[in-house]
Formats: sequence, C-alpha cells, structure tokens
Amino acid sequence: MTKTNPSKGSLASQADRHTLYELSVQCPEAEVDFIEDAFLKLKKRKALSLREDFCGTAAVCCEWIRRSNRKTAIGVDLDADVLEWGKTHQASQLDYRQKRRLTLFNQDVQTVDSVHVDAIVAMNFSYWLFKERDQLKRYFKSTCNALVEDGALFLDAYGGYESFQEIEEQREIDENGQAFTYVWEQEKFNPVDNGLICSIHFEFDDGSRIERAFHYDWRLWTLPEIRDLLLECGFSRVTTYWQGFDKDGDGDGDFKPVTQADADAGWICYLVAEK
Ligand SMILES: C[S@@+](CC[C@H](N)C(=O)[O-])C[C@H]1O[C@@H](n2cnc3c(N)ncnc32)[C@H](O)[C@@H]1O
Repeated sequence: MTKTNPSKGSLASQADRHTLYELSVQCPEAEVDFIEDAFLKLKKRKALSLREDFCGTAAVCCEWIRRSNRKTAIGVDLDADVLEWGKTHQASQLDYRQKRRLTLFNQDVQTVDSVHVDAIVAMNFSYWLFKERDQLKRYFKSTCNALVEDGALFLDAYGGYESFQEIEEQREIDENGQAFTYVWEQEKFNPVDNGLICSIHFEFDDGSRIERAFHYDWRLWTLPEIRDLLLECGFSRVTTYWQGFDKDGDGDGDFKPVTQADADAGWICYLVAEK
C-alpha cells in the first residue's frame, strides 16, 4: 500500500471523479471513428452535425468538433455541474473557432428542442434510465423527429448472461499520471422487471476509495425490445454492430454489422437506427 502525504489527504480525496470516469469508461476517439464510419457506409455521405444526449463532460462533442471545421455538436445534459466541468476541462481545449461550433444545453433530453441534426448519440447505456416502455418510446420518437431526413440515432447496449447477475468487475488503470482501480458493480438485479442498479467505485493504492462515484438506476433492455421500439417509433432500419476478439480473447474495438452473435457471458454492442 502506498503511503500518502497526510497534509494532502488520501488519494481518493485528491482525485476528480470526472477525470477518472473519462479515463476508465470513455474513448471518444473510438466512438467518433465508429459514428463517422458507420454513417458514411450507410448514408454515402459524411455526418456533419451531431447531438450528444446525456453528454456528461461533452467529451464526444469536443472530439467531433476537432475532426473537421464543418462539424457542429450539441451536447445535452440535465446536470449543470457536469456540463460546467466539461466546459472547464474539455471545451476549454478547443480554439475559439471550434468553440463557436459547440452548443451545450443544460436540459432534459426528453424535452430539448434542438435543430435537426445528422446524428444523435446516446452512449454508455444512458437511455436505460427510461424504464417504462412508453417513456423510452417517447424519447426515441423525439430523437427521430430531431434528425434530418437521412439521419441516424446511435446507441450502445450491453448484455450476456453475466448482465443478469449481481457481480463486481475490476480493472487497473494507469494513464495520464493517474493510477487507480475502476470497479463496476451490478448491485441489484430484479428479474421481474429487469431493474438494474449499478455503481462505479474507484480504489487507490493507499487503500482509499470513492464509493459510488457514479450510480445508475436502470432497466436492462434487451436488443429485440430496443429494436422493436425503434421501428415502432418511425425508424426505418436498425443495425446491430458487434465487435470481434483480439488474440487474448478481449474485444478488439472493431464493430461490424451482424444478424447473429455468440451467447457470450458479457458483450457490448452498438445499434444504429436510421430514420
Ligand atoms: C452515464 S452518464 C453518460 C456520460 C457520457 N455520455 C458517456 O457516454 O459516458 C449519464 C449522464 O446523463 C445525464 N442525464 C440523466 N438524465 C438525463 C436527462 N433526462 N436528460 C439529460 N441528461 C440526463 C446525467 O447527468 C449524466 O451526466
């Protein structure tokens, strides 16, 4: 165990949970690569305007903006504090021209009134907080209405038999001068309604821990349920993208369209719903 300088406090007390979240959960470069490639292949043109729902620190918006001076991004999040963090740590790294192409709305994605965009993204399972069918349906309908005629909605989802279990997974992270353990805990699963309570904790070498740094109260939606709802809401086609495996058996980050996949213990996929 590492000794800490008592005057500075524990490593947990010095850490910033948004920095740790970005390091352990997000990879905006890979996400934007996927959105750009899939959109180009499906629509035979480049996506230029993006709306990132549940944007949190707006990391994906900022990566999008950096890719081309023709690109615009709108980020929507209900939490003013996380948006403020995003402005200070993410948007502040854009130059003044890039900043002009970024709009952040402190609003509810259910009621936000944005301009029509090429692509809307809702990542890291954020839309799972809509637990009732009607509620998720209203959200999907509103995204369909907010897309241009050949626009597309990008979602992710996870599943596999481990997703129905109350389990904990750990990953060591040592990046950008930050060394910590990322802990993903599926705290409670209710098979009657697929209610799923999850938390992210962060642990440090001095034994300190940020307990429930992030906490989620979700419904574990299955792929056929999501696809059927999207089609009911006016989307014309839904494609599922599955990743392959590297030589160690880990996901290789290369997502390809599939109609069939292996019944793995745990998987993450993308869904693209075309208007
Ligand atoms: C799991 S985080 C996702 C952050 C980021 N998009 C990502 O991919 O990692 C969920 C975010 O959704 C926001 N949120 C929750 N309910 C919302 C709502 N109804 N409208 C807009 N944002 C919401 C929370 O404030 C939080 O920042």
